[in-house]
Amino acid sequence: MSRITQDTQKSGPRHVAIIMDGNGRWATQRGRPRLFGHHAGAKRVREVVQSCPDVGVDYLTIFAFSTENWKRTQVEVAGLMSLFRRYITKEARALDQFGARVRFIGDRMRLDAKLIKLMDDLEEMTSSNTAVNLTIALNYGGRDEVARATKRLARDVAQGRLSPDDVDEETLPRYLDTYVLPDPDLVIRTSGEARISNFLLWQSAYAEYEFIDTLWPDFTAEEFASLCASYGGRDRRFGAVKT
Ligand code: FPP
Repeated sequence: MSRITQDTQKSGPRHVAIIMDGNGRWATQRGRPRLFGHHAGAKRVREVVQSCPDVGVDYLTIFAFSTENWKRTQVEVAGLMSLFRRYITKEARALDQFGARVRFIGDRMRLDAKLIKLMDDLEEMTSSNTAVNLTIALNYGGRDEVARATKRLARDVAQGRLSPDDVDEETLPRYLDTYVLPDPDLVIRTSGEARISNFLLWQSAYAEYEFIDTLWPDFTAEEFASLCASYGGRDRRFGAVKT
């Protein structure tokens, strides 16, 4: 039996990841189009980001658009892409002034050039900030990320930069989009669905999950703080047995 040493954690989560779900239902409940819900959802992001330092969260990762979301109607997809462009343009200054370091994960290849430029510029502009690390998952899918990582890893093997014998649990994550981030401690999904929907599959191996009924546009910094606080009361064992 393994002994628990430094792996036992009783403090709050350092990295929280959020699946922001329920925008569509929130809008439908109000008799409005789904995009109205996405706009309301985008407005909730700032408050949660700005509350991170108060609750001791250094890394916040949010799921904005999945590799599966392309299957939505053309109107919704185009509306979301336009929302992301507007969000970055409008929020860049506030995020920077707050001290957020913004990164994007996901496959950029399918995104339009204007959006990619905005993403690159925001990453560059905020690259020396330290108040909180905000990672936005955009055209992200966990399986797609592992497949892209494996492709890069295979190229390194083929070109003699990496030996197959050196491929292990330490090596592979260096090829993931998240290579500079710690693994998430807590994953929150709003709107009552209890699924992980291809989000941070490799990285969440030991994460705690909170599935809450609140629809994302109703999510508040208070609820975020309360979820972080209840995480702090848990005893994580990482597969070991407490002695
Ligand atoms: C899921 O709700 C939400 C999305 C697919 C988009 C998430 C986007 C935002 C919260 C807004 C933008 C974020 C940023 C960072 C600008 P859903 O449409 O699946 O809701 P439903 O399950 O009720 O239909």
